[in-house]
Formats: sequence, C-alpha cells, structure tokens
Amino acid sequence: MYICPVCKDKLNRIENSWRCPKGHSFDIARKGHVNLLTTAKHNPKTAGDNADMVKARTEFLDKGYYRPLAEKLREAAEDELNGIAKPVIIDSGCGEGFYSSELAKIKNSRIFGIDISKHAVAHCMTRVHLAGLKNCEFAVASSFDLPFANNSADAVISVFAPVCDEEYARVLKPDGVLIVVSPSPRHLFELKAAVYDKPYKNKPNDYKLTKFYNGKDKRKEIVFEYKKLISSPEDIQSLFMMTPYCFKTSEEGMARLRALESIEVTCGFMIQVYSKC
Ligand SMILES: C[S@@+](CC[C@H](N)C(=O)[O-])C[C@H]1O[C@@H](n2cnc3c(N)ncnc32)[C@H](O)[C@@H]1O
Ligand SMILES: [Zn+2]
Repeated sequence: MYICPVCKDKLNRIENSWRCPKGHSFDIARKGHVNLLTTAKHNPKTAGDNADMVKARTEFLDKGYYRPLAEKLREAAEDELNGIAKPVIIDSGCGEGFYSSELAKIKNSRIFGIDISKHAVAHCMTRVHLAGLKNCEFAVASSFDLPFANNSADAVISVFAPVCDEEYARVLKPDGVLIVVSPSPRHLFELKAAVYDKPYKNKPNDYKLTKFYNGKDKRKEIVFEYKKLISSPEDIQSLFMMTPYCFKTSEEGMARLRALESIEVTCGFMIQVYSKC
C-alpha cells in the first residue's frame, strides 16, 4: 500500500522500518506510525496543526459533540462500500483520528490515515490503541503527495481538510469514491452571532474536481444538521480554536467569547460523495 515518498517505489515492512528497493528507509515510531513526509518539501516540525491546536480539537471531539457526524459519515461510507469484501479507506488530513476510528468499525475495513501534522498523527496511534483497533495505520504525509500506490483505495475521506483532486484520483480504484465533509451554511452560526456584529453564513464549498464525475456536480450530497449545547467555557474555547475564525477575531470579539458560559449551536455539515470520471 505505502510507496516511497522519494522514488515512489513500493515500501516493504522490514522489522521496524518501511524500506524501498532503492534503500530509502523510514523508521516506525514507538507508537506505531511512520513519518513519510520528505524534508525537501516540508518542515515536519512546523507542518500542519501544532500541538495546541491538536490538543484543543482532541478535547472537544472527545466530549462527543461531533459523534453524530462521525456516525453519519461511517453510514455514508458503508453505503458506498457495500459489497466490497475488504474495503481500503484513506482518511486524508485525518487529524487525531476521531473519524478514522469510527470508519474502522466498517466490516473488514483497513484504514490508512495521513496528516501533515506529526502531533496529530501521534495522537491517532494513542486513540486506536485505547480503542483496541487493529485495522488502522497512520503516517505523517501530505494530501498533495500521498504515500499510496495508484489504484489502491476503495474510498478517500476528507473531513475539513485540504482536498487534492489529482492525488485522490490517482490512489482510488476505478470504482472508488471520494467523500468530502465540509461545513454547511448554518454551521456554528449562533457562535458567530455571539462574537461578531455582522455574522455571516458559510459559503457552501464549491470544489472544482476535474478528476471526478462532474456531470451533475456530485453524485450525492447529504446536508446533516443538529443542535448541541456547548456546555462549558472551556469547550466553547476549544471549539473556537478549531475554526478558522480564531485567526481573525478582534480582541473585543474574543472578550465576548470568553464571557459565554454555554451556548446552543447548530452543528451543520455537508457530506458530498464523488465518483471518479
Ligand atoms: C481542520 S483539521 C481536520 C482534522 C480531522 N479531519 C478532523 O476533522 O478532526 C485539518 C487537518 O488537515 C491537516 N493538514 C493541513 N494541510 C495538510 C496537507 N497538505 N496534507 C495533509 N494534512 C494536512 C492539518 O494538520 C489538520 O490536522
Ligand atoms: Zn525510495
């Protein structure tokens, strides 16, 4: 499944490393993941979400606020993979493995999660060990240079993560599907209304996926919305840290945020399913 990030030849597991026939070698960390990010293209120390962002997201996700989404996504993937004996699923931009570990419940599945953040990937291993899952592997890698062979996956999943049309099409089998999750227009509207004078709805994502069936845009689109009470200032803070708004909110807006004891918000998502052209 894995290919060498340097020469693209197949990687073979030899003791505690992954090696290609040309001798490029990648050590498997004590936790069980592997770093396949080439330093020529990225600085693995700073790539992707930092330790604080990973910690905030983990704390929030572990409270279960997005559990309904994880289950809905697993059901959508199950529907698409129905009839495939041993589905291979790539979770691209997997973060700390919250959705990967739910997808791992799909019968006889093998899950390969990648993320460019070494902090996030290290946490994936902790999560799957705690859950006793044996069918998940994780690597530090970029969605724009996936360390997987051509035509090797039945599904690629991307949840709030960068989307790379070309790479997803390359690694998917001809009948493979791409499932993209993004915020719906009303996602977290109440939180924005509490912080901003002029809250706005999110624009629905409009990926131009040239390698996927675009005759009628997507094959399937599920808009999935529910309300949740975010019940403590700490959880509100963690949620806000997970959003792009945390980078562009004034000090006044942050003060309004800190004053909130709890808030009921719309959790709104679009699950879009694409098949290859
Ligand atoms: C908003 S988070 C979503 C994480 C996870 N899918 C979730 O929903 O919990 C976006 C993730 O994309 C990762 N990321 C950013 N650029 C990336 C890239 N080029 N390749 C792979 N992952 C990337 C970040 O490190 C981060 O973990
Ligand atoms: Zn190599």
